[in-house]
Amino acid sequence: MNILVLGGGGREHALAWAILQNPKCDRLIVAPGNAGIAQIAECASLDICDGGAVVEFAEAEAIDFVVIGPEAPLAAGVADRLVEAGLLVFGPSAEAAKLEASKRFTKEVCDAAGAPTAAWARFDAAEPAKDHIRAHGAPIVVKADGLAAGKGVIVAMTEDEALAAVDEMFSGAFGEAGAEVVIEEFMEGEEASFFVLCDGETVLPVGTAQDHKRVGEGDTGPNTGGMGAYSPAPVMTPEVTEAALERIIKPTVAEMARRGTPYRGVLYAGFMIQDGAPRLVEYNVRFGDPECQALMMRLGAQALDLMLAAAEGRLADRTVNWAEDHAMTVVLAAKGYPGSYEKGSVIGGLEQLPETSWEMMFHAGTTEAEGKITATGGRVLNATARGRTLQEARDRAYELAEAVDWSGGFYRRDIGWRALGEG
Ligand code: AMP
Ligand code: GLY
Repeated sequence: MNILVLGGGGREHALAWAILQNPKCDRLIVAPGNAGIAQIAECASLDICDGGAVVEFAEAEAIDFVVIGPEAPLAAGVADRLVEAGLLVFGPSAEAAKLEASKRFTKEVCDAAGAPTAAWARFDAAEPAKDHIRAHGAPIVVKADGLAAGKGVIVAMTEDEALAAVDEMFSGAFGEAGAEVVIEEFMEGEEASFFVLCDGETVLPVGTAQDHKRVGEGDTGPNTGGMGAYSPAPVMTPEVTEAALERIIKPTVAEMARRGTPYRGVLYAGFMIQDGAPRLVEYNVRFGDPECQALMMRLGAQALDLMLAAAEGRLADRTVNWAEDHAMTVVLAAKGYPGSYEKGSVIGGLEQLPETSWEMMFHAGTTEAEGKITATGGRVLNATARGRTLQEARDRAYELAEAVDWSGGFYRRDIGWRALGEG
């Protein structure tokens, strides 16, 4: 079959890599792709948030299956346009994608589903929001309702910080996303992510993961899109996983179906786990980046069959073939990230890296010009490896990272420290 993947980051490189291992895939196009993806698939330039343009492209290229990587096209209704055009698509409708696009929507769905999450209140003006903060005190969490590229959440350790966050959100700094603010109870515990495929009704877990959001070693410094991740997450014990499925995920999926907006695609749940009890922090309607890189390394070729089954409503007949393995991805970022950083620095040493089912250097923000690979983003490369133990996966991932010759980049040396019992 002919497959189109939308997106151009490390997540999409990993999706493309897994899809290509499956003999069902005859032709793969990734839009827009990146320099690493271009080495394994065709890349096409396309406005991936323009549903009409995506439908037209898919029809012209005789595409049989579209896999949507990032949240923006999902929130923009690209999956809806593709379904209306009779195309098979992996990714939720715009209405179902509100589970990521609107914090308030998610909170309402959780309440209707009886899914445990932080106590919350919503405000569309600063003064009542501030009164609420003064009444509850710190720590407290202030969130812009809409999509704010991961920057719309302030975990305030003091009341002043929370009040300042409210002012910032209503100042228009987050545009439309900040026109409404959700204020939440601060939850304590350990965070983990859980990925399940859904076909509207059936839920199939495809892995757990933990990521490192802070830029600095020891989980210090400013927040990033993620500096590394590993799968599985030890904190997601069988008991915690069962509780997460039965009390949070399945009731949410049932509530979405009850509303007439069934959830299809991958649902990525972020949990806070305390004393063995998970509570929902957030939903995302896509694979995590860089978590997806670790998940795809573990799933391999079956990822395509599973995504197809989700799109076709056939998940009830599917199981995942698990190996006893662990995977880790280490993000190589441009020096300065997540602050300002230089673009265009040359990356060497990529050609001689091993590319096996145990180790892959996925590209996130790269481009090729005159035969040279250069960095174009903040997060640039994802050294990803699999092993029989997490330590083995980590050793391999760092070997890959070290083999890259890039003076303009850096990476954290302690990915997985908590799971490996360090620190
Ligand atoms: P979100 O974008 O909702 O995932 O929030 C980003 C990060 O903020 C999460 O990964 C958590 O580390 C933190 N966070 C969000 N909500 C809460 C909460 N209610 N209590 C504690 N930490 C939170
Ligand atoms: N790694 C976090 C995310 O994809 O949202």
